[in-house]
Amino acid sequence: MGFNTKAVHTGVAKDSQYKSVTTPLYTSSNFAFSDISTHTGYDYTRSGNPTRRAAEENIATLEEGVDARCTSTGMSAVTGVLHLLQAGDHVVCGNDIYGGTFRLMHSVFSKMGIVFSFIDMRKAQNVTEALRANTKMVWIETPSNPLLNIVDIEAVAAIARKHGAISVVDNTFMTPYYQKPIRLGVDIVLHSTTKYINGHSDVVGGAIVSSSKTLAEQIQFNVNALGIGEAPFDAWLVLRGVKTLGLRMEQHSRNAMAVAQFLDGHPSIETVYYPGLPSHPGHDLAKRQMSGFGGMVSFDFKPNTIDLNVFFNRLTYFTLAESLGGVESLVEAPYFMSHASMTESARTEAGIKQTNVRLSVGIEDVNDLLDDLKSALK
Ligand SMILES: Cc1ncc(COP(=O)(O)O)c(C=O)c1O
Repeated sequence: MGFNTKAVHTGVAKDSQYKSVTTPLYTSSNFAFSDISTHTGYDYTRSGNPTRRAAEENIATLEEGVDARCTSTGMSAVTGVLHLLQAGDHVVCGNDIYGGTFRLMHSVFSKMGIVFSFIDMRKAQNVTEALRANTKMVWIETPSNPLLNIVDIEAVAAIARKHGAISVVDNTFMTPYYQKPIRLGVDIVLHSTTKYINGHSDVVGGAIVSSSKTLAEQIQFNVNALGIGEAPFDAWLVLRGVKTLGLRMEQHSRNAMAVAQFLDGHPSIETVYYPGLPSHPGHDLAKRQMSGFGGMVSFDFKPNTIDLNVFFNRLTYFTLAESLGGVESLVEAPYFMSHASMTESARTEAGIKQTNVRLSVGIEDVNDLLDDLKSALK
């Protein structure tokens, strides 16, 4: 089965009574037992729900994992994975990651005795050098948020495996349509399904995909014990959204390439970050491990050339808002918005400047998007 066929046909045909074409929404919090030890496979929605399970089957299939669990947010997916660790464990993580992931690691999990090293992962050798005897997890976000740095998934996963550490990829930006980390040797793939997988900016959700039965059991234990499973209605929306993932990613990617090419070389702009540009330092690696470049573009204005608020106010189709991956185009300033939860020194180390602007390029007609940017930059 091809990707789009899997996306459309997995997790459906669940209604044997009425044969509904789409998956029914089971909002029930609990399910009847026929005797004290027998039920239909579901007892309580925190532990499992048929609608959520359908979305999980779909995402597991697309990511080529053995199982997936849908969670209430992307951050609860991160929480569910980090709870595989215990006090005294060490994690090697990229330093250019989503601000909320950094905050959770730096300000919450570090209080529980887990130690994090935030490093530049663009060189796989840096990961080897950061390993300690107690390193139990290696956390990869690629392309990274917001600078679109590319990490060599296969090389880093191999380093983690050799050391006996679990490798994790946050695949939110690329989605399984363009990047398949499990094929590249990764143990766990994680998503904020709030973004491309749902794709319509009307859900917050997450997913954890495991590559082995052992990990899948531990993740399901954590999701149930922590109570972080996704609400049935949200899972139902995710299942509806994911069916068009491939089509949307193609259009996001085409539009983003045109936007990046337009911004590249503009007199007010210092640097454009888009892995599809041959000038991007990770371009060759991106071509090897991704089958497209995605819809995220970021760039730095030249210092003192522009008031960001004036630029944002002049835009019509790019809405000033956090988040990303929906059908509509968005713009934001990571230093002040999505990455404000990182410490000042962490932002500096990651290279996130006050002049950085991140675009989530939507699926609108590209000429409208280009005209919008042209007139705002005038
Ligand atoms: C790469 C990445 N991972 C995880 C998250 C967290 O997801 P959520 O906002 O759904 O909790 C985000 C949110 O922006 C993100 O961009």
